[in-house]
Amino acid sequence: MPGDTRPLETAPCAGADLLIEAGDLSVRFGGILALSHIDLKVCRGEIVSLIGPNGSGKSTLVRAVAGLVAPTSGTVWRQPDLRLGYMPQRLSIDRVLPLTVRRFLSLAERSRPAELEAALAEVEAADLIEHSVHDLSGGEFQRVMLARAMLRKPQLLLLDEPLQGVDLGGQLALYDLIGRLRRRHRMGVLLVSHDLHIVMAQTDRVVCLNQHVCCSGAPESVQQHPEYVALFGPEAARRLAVYSHAHDHEHDLAGNPVPAERTSQGVGK
Ligand SMILES: Nc1ncnc2c1ncn2[C@@H]1O[C@H](COP(=O)(O)OP(=O)(O)OP(=O)(O)O)[C@@H](O)[C@H]1O
Ligand SMILES: [Mg+2]
Repeated sequence: MPGDTRPLETAPCAGADLLIEAGDLSVRFGGILALSHIDLKVCRGEIVSLIGPNGSGKSTLVRAVAGLVAPTSGTVWRQPDLRLGYMPQRLSIDRVLPLTVRRFLSLAERSRPAELEAALAEVEAADLIEHSVHDLSGGEFQRVMLARAMLRKPQLLLLDEPLQGVDLGGQLALYDLIGRLRRRHRMGVLLVSHDLHIVMAQTDRVVCLNQHVCCSGAPESVQQHPEYVALFGPEAARRLAVYSHAHDHEHDLAGNPVPAERTSQGVGK
């Protein structure tokens, strides 16, 4: 809905469909106020994108939702027994030790070999299973990280900058893949990005963060919000408008455009 800048409290769910809810959440690290009075809900089956400049608290919010950072004040509620899949922004892997993709995944979650293979197949990376994680390209590594997050059969997927090291075509393809996974499994997805124009085709709601929630709502409405324009500049808002009108297709994992219907087939949408 253009011009819709309703706050997130109007998230379109309640009851069993509500996966997490942060209420008046603030997080302070010593003298640094990383998050200030955040309200956030994520529902089953929706993709919520967190955008904001460096240091705006995006990772802290994701980590608070995951229970890895304690609130200084306010609350984070998670649905009882909620299964979370978390893809961190950074992961240091000891390059000295040889490590295949298979071993890397099995270290993350005790899974049967068939489950590892299925998780890789879901991210269209089955052929990487015996590769060394050290030799993967940026895009391959991010897909393996996505498979790793999917191993827990999550109801909520937390993706902190899943596009790092991925070229533009690969970024669009990865987001299309995330969109298909969410439809297939009816997961909630909370994902972090610097760049709204890349995520918007797969995003239901956007939360623009700068310690506090600057604005939130449908992607088309957020781009027009004065706080979004103030944070990212009029050029970013203009680029976004062009992109939102042009994006009528999805991308295969080589980054090639394909009609939206084809990549969405068979995913139960
Ligand atoms: N464990 C920590 N201890 C101290 N300060 C922290 C810690 N984690 C985050 N911070 C600080 O909190 C602020 C928000 O950091 P955060 O990593 O959440 O930002 P971000 O939006 O994810 O940034 P980026 O886009 O660079 O990833 C920063 O000033 C950061 O230095
Ligand atoms: Mg971060």
